[in-house]
Amino acid sequence: MKTRELLDTAKALVAADRGLLAMDESNPTCNKRFAAQGIPQTEGARRAYRELIVTAPGLHESISGAILCDETIHQHREDGTPFIKVLSDSGIIPGIKVDAGAKDLAGHRGEKITEGLDGLRERLAVYSRLGARFAKWRAVITVGVGIPSRGCMDANANSLARYAALCQEAGLVPIVEPEVLMDGDHGMERCRKVTEEVLHSVFHQLYAQRVILEGMILKPNMVLPGLSCPKQKDVDAVADATVGCFLRAVPAAVPGIAFLSGGQSAELASARLNAMNARFKSLVPWALAFSFARAIQQPALEIWRGEEANVGAAQQALLHRARCNRAARRGEYDAVMETGRQRG
Ligand code: 13P
Repeated sequence: MKTRELLDTAKALVAADRGLLAMDESNPTCNKRFAAQGIPQTEGARRAYRELIVTAPGLHESISGAILCDETIHQHREDGTPFIKVLSDSGIIPGIKVDAGAKDLAGHRGEKITEGLDGLRERLAVYSRLGARFAKWRAVITVGVGIPSRGCMDANANSLARYAALCQEAGLVPIVEPEVLMDGDHGMERCRKVTEEVLHSVFHQLYAQRVILEGMILKPNMVLPGLSCPKQKDVDAVADATVGCFLRAVPAAVPGIAFLSGGQSAELASARLNAMNARFKSLVPWALAFSFARAIQQPALEIWRGEEANVGAAQQALLHRARCNRAARRGEYDAVMETGRQRG
């Protein structure tokens, strides 16, 4: 393992107010989003869409790294250039999603365990040879009556830690993603408690598996009320609860916290990240960054709709969201940035 490289990559992923673009939707998830826009669910359409993203001019100004899925990492531009080379040549670090998805956890009704550890060492070696420099694994925690259980939290934390250790052995920076889902009518305090408990379990397991904290990035949910909770909170309250929770549970050695968007609107995700940085950037030990999929891509996807003629406009929408989130990292995002733009 080359520790220096790991540390440098982890730092680079959150440097200069840039953030990550998650474009690693599995084929079924990508197809579902295509179907909602009337886009054909074919390999060709997925390739064309990912080409639109990686060739958006100037994307590297706001995006430090892009997370691909197995299909995309093997794909090329129409002119034959591998996507991974397009990204690296433009100054964007390529990464790869390596989990095999969340499956029902035996004996735990309503809870999931993420699979994919079998053969992971060999797959990481292949991805590293292809040029990936970091990886991602997502664990899913559901909030409900009597859940999450200790068994679910600890099993997912253990898998995340074993994945992270294998990544570092292979020279890849692990993005460690324990996602507490937004679904439900629970209040923000419940989300805060569950998130803190999950994070304690994750960092306990990362320590036990000897993961170098300086060579990883945490990708968590923000602390939010459930989507159907009648008491929604303003952005400052979300920023306070989120940063307060992470101060209690995330060691200072971790270089960056790159939030997922989790189904928030694109504008709210930017506003909440902005509030965290405006209020706490100089006070917290880690970079407060982003690793959004939907909150960067959704407006662009809705403009593209599978039509070649819409590629330019869709790229502009993608770049706009990326720039808004870069501004949010500086605490300089303002809702006026949204006015005058076509919304998806
Ligand atoms: P969202 O930002 O759409 O939640 O996706 C982030 C991600 O990578 C999920 O694993």
